[in-house]
Amino acid sequence: MSLALSSMRRTCTSVARSARPRVLALPHAHPSHSLLYTPAAACQTRYSSHSPMGAPPSSPRKKVTIATLRSLHKKGDPITMITAHDFPSAHVADHAGMDVVLVGDSLAMVALGMEDTSEVLVEEMLLHCRSVARATKTAFTVGDLPMGSYEISPEQALATAIRFIKDGRVQSVKLEGGKEMAPTIRKITTAGIPVLGHVGLTPQRQNALGGFRVQGKTKDGALGVLEDALAVQEAGCFAVVLEAVPAEVAELITQRLSIPTIGIGAGAGCSGQVLVQTDMAGNFPPGRFLPKFVKKYGDVWGESRRAIEAYRDEVKSRQYPAAEHTYPIPEGELAAFSKAIKEM
Ligand code: KIV
Repeated sequence: MSLALSSMRRTCTSVARSARPRVLALPHAHPSHSLLYTPAAACQTRYSSHSPMGAPPSSPRKKVTIATLRSLHKKGDPITMITAHDFPSAHVADHAGMDVVLVGDSLAMVALGMEDTSEVLVEEMLLHCRSVARATKTAFTVGDLPMGSYEISPEQALATAIRFIKDGRVQSVKLEGGKEMAPTIRKITTAGIPVLGHVGLTPQRQNALGGFRVQGKTKDGALGVLEDALAVQEAGCFAVVLEAVPAEVAELITQRLSIPTIGIGAGAGCSGQVLVQTDMAGNFPPGRFLPKFVKKYGDVWGESRRAIEAYRDEVKSRQYPAAEHTYPIPEGELAAFSKAIKEM
């Protein structure tokens, strides 16, 4: 905490001691802040630059549930899904009207700088799930079970899934794998936890797959992906991610399933799409490898860098902070303060 901020907090606290709580409704405050107001709380809300809460979405939508996803699928309305790994990335995804927010284990790389997803721990995933869940008011949330947390037995998987719901505060879990995961999916779903399947390219098994390879490129390969998708559907998944599968294959699989398919690198014939937020928002340095299926919709990296460089330059040249960024003091108080200093 900066010196300025900590001393500001001290000032607010001393004001609070001398005043009784009042009931207030502040127009720009989060609803949970508007009931009981002490001057200290008002100071927090007005002065803290760290508050994560913005105004609620201007046209609040209804909470997305499993039933909403079923209804979208029935109507042929594409399901929109995006990853988020922390409060801000989930907050913006929720405001932007995503149907589903996935706390993917891709956060191992994009948020924690790890080499691949095999390194991320359950505890790390849970920390990120909790921060995403706090920001996600309307989208349906999914937490990705990390490698090693569900493959040993259906019991191990159920225990991990329960932690994701109770500690991670997400509404469902995702796990990778096809036929071989059917008993595990059955175990979790019969305990009342919705499961999102993930077949085709399963990044947690990249070592066995020989890297990040497109799946289902031959008749037998495509039949294998279909069998996996049917098996996870039969076991109770509410939807299944199809990753890195030829578009035509994904479309035919989608037509054979009764649950929605969520494509990533699987073409437009799926029932919905998912992308990693940092990829689609362009939050990475120029020159980074980008998979063929990613469309870059923004330049978050470029805009952040431009802003940070402008800030750096203005601090160096003393253009920032300008007068409008400073707090006033009554002239008399300032004169008295200057005098006091001189007399010290
Ligand atoms: O970890 C992840 O982000 C994912 C999606 C991209 C499907 O599994």
